[in-house]
Amino acid sequence: MCGIVGYVGEQHPKEFLLDGLKKLEYRGYDSSGIAIKNNDNIQIIKCTGKISDLEEKINKENLISSKIGIAHTRWATHGEANETNAHPHKVGKVTLVHNGIIENATDLKNKLVNDGVVFRSETDTEVACAVISKYYKGNPIEAITEAIQLLKGSYAFGVLFEDQDKLYAVRKDSPLIIGLGKKENYIASDIAAIIKYTDQYILLNDDEVVELSGENVTVYKDGKKIKKEIQTSTMTIEDANKGNYKHFMLKEIMEEPIVLQRTLNKYINNMDQMVDISPYEEIHIVACGSALYAGMIGKCLLEEKANIKCMTDVASEYRYKKIIYDRKTLVILVSQSGETADTIAAMRKAHEEGIDTLAIVNVKTSTIAREAKQTLFIEAGPEIAVATTKAYLLQVAMFSLIALKAAHSKKLEKNYKEIIEEAKQLPDYLRKVLNDKDVFAGIGKEIKGARDAFYIGRGVDYAMCEEGSLKLKEVSYTHSDAYQAGELKHGTISLIEDGVPVFAIITDDKIKDKTESNVIEVESRKAKIYTITNDASIMNHHFKYVVEKISDYFQPVLIVPPLQLIGYYTALERGLDIDKPRNLAKSVTVE
Ligand code: AGP
Repeated sequence: MCGIVGYVGEQHPKEFLLDGLKKLEYRGYDSSGIAIKNNDNIQIIKCTGKISDLEEKINKENLISSKIGIAHTRWATHGEANETNAHPHKVGKVTLVHNGIIENATDLKNKLVNDGVVFRSETDTEVACAVISKYYKGNPIEAITEAIQLLKGSYAFGVLFEDQDKLYAVRKDSPLIIGLGKKENYIASDIAAIIKYTDQYILLNDDEVVELSGENVTVYKDGKKIKKEIQTSTMTIEDANKGNYKHFMLKEIMEEPIVLQRTLNKYINNMDQMVDISPYEEIHIVACGSALYAGMIGKCLLEEKANIKCMTDVASEYRYKKIIYDRKTLVILVSQSGETADTIAAMRKAHEEGIDTLAIVNVKTSTIAREAKQTLFIEAGPEIAVATTKAYLLQVAMFSLIALKAAHSKKLEKNYKEIIEEAKQLPDYLRKVLNDKDVFAGIGKEIKGARDAFYIGRGVDYAMCEEGSLKLKEVSYTHSDAYQAGELKHGTISLIEDGVPVFAIITDDKIKDKTESNVIEVESRKAKIYTITNDASIMNHHFKYVVEKISDYFQPVLIVPPLQLIGYYTALERGLDIDKPRNLAKSVTVE
């Protein structure tokens, strides 16, 4: 996902732009660039690789004096990661940076080429820039408002005009924040880039065009000025920094007891305010990646405990497949960022069919949070590491609360009060697990050379395997697969050979013996078994870690952090870029 920052004020923009890009690095990128201007002179400097490479290049240049600029980190969608395709792009008097994807770029480009426009890059962004340039006759608001009528897809633009001393911006489906400073104002893809300068911001709605000078911020809709509410961010500068931790990922895992406490405090003490989904007869849980795996845990709990029929689906499939809706269907969208394109599309599909939606979201200013019929916010705070940990854990905890509420409403949970009381101990149980983090560092050392790893479990334990496997893959680049424990013998067991690490998750009393027999199957083929369980009686084949045995509703909350730490420490042993794994973006805002 690309990152955008922009500055207009009394200082030279270089420091703000580079600092802002560094705060957006976690979003994932492969090239970057800045554009600054002074009167009619625009200076553009672009570079593939890291922000540090761009900074080095900038420091070698004679920078023009300037009080206004835009900058961008690019995660390549249209056209490979090279300097020509890096942003900013300039056509005519217009210079622009873009986050999103223009779906009708090819058609527009063909028409513009016929009009004699010469393109240098392969990007959809340069096409958007050319469209704005085509309509620019001296009035930036008019030009942008005209141009966006022709653009299909998603965009957040930061725009400079050669003959204007103001900064312009507009968004549709891609996030953009307008920061309000003292004699200076900012644009940014998210609050982390500007929190060092201000906690005052404006949220743009789709197709609202904003004009910024050092003194004023004016927002237009269809060419007419509109009033906007000024919001105050709760994010702190510490949130945007690693503190004493080597990586954001470890910091965010270690924050889990705090953010879990914050989320429980918000809900557990007034469960009568918790969303009650018991009236619905069918639940569709739709998400991507880790959010989907949290949903899989939710499915198990809702079916087992609340007797509600559930299905889970990958948002990128769900949005296109034929769905037979029953009027009593609820679609639950799970998304940390609230900006995942496929999940947004799945939500809008449900709305088109008149189906209720409930979103479980972290980012309060996000598209999903604003469009879902109901939204439950997890209180994870900003999650900077690309690999989700604390947000995923709170998504799981939220499903625990939803399932408990539904079971209680249907008079299916006789131990309701005790479970509520036990849930209040969760942060302390979790602290105990995290205090053993060196145990999992030891596993990272043991498996750092492994080519493959497997995670096996049944029912809800299998759902946790999926997340454990994904964490290992995405940060340590170790190939791994999660399997229903009974499924391995139907083919994949052929991959089990001497020393292959197999992680067994065993928490479900009803089927623990079955999983244990699958463990013995793979151990007899010389796999190295790492068991994570809530049952001290489970056999220790090579390594066994036992967490507190608590109610089924909240048990996953204690099992998942060891899996997250194993992924982290394996990557640490391999010396990888843990907070910004290759090819990954924090939020996939394109299809
Ligand atoms: C990051 O660790 C996850 N692996 C990634 O799959 C993420 O869960 C997925 O992209 C969905 O993101 P969202 O929660 O912001 O919608």
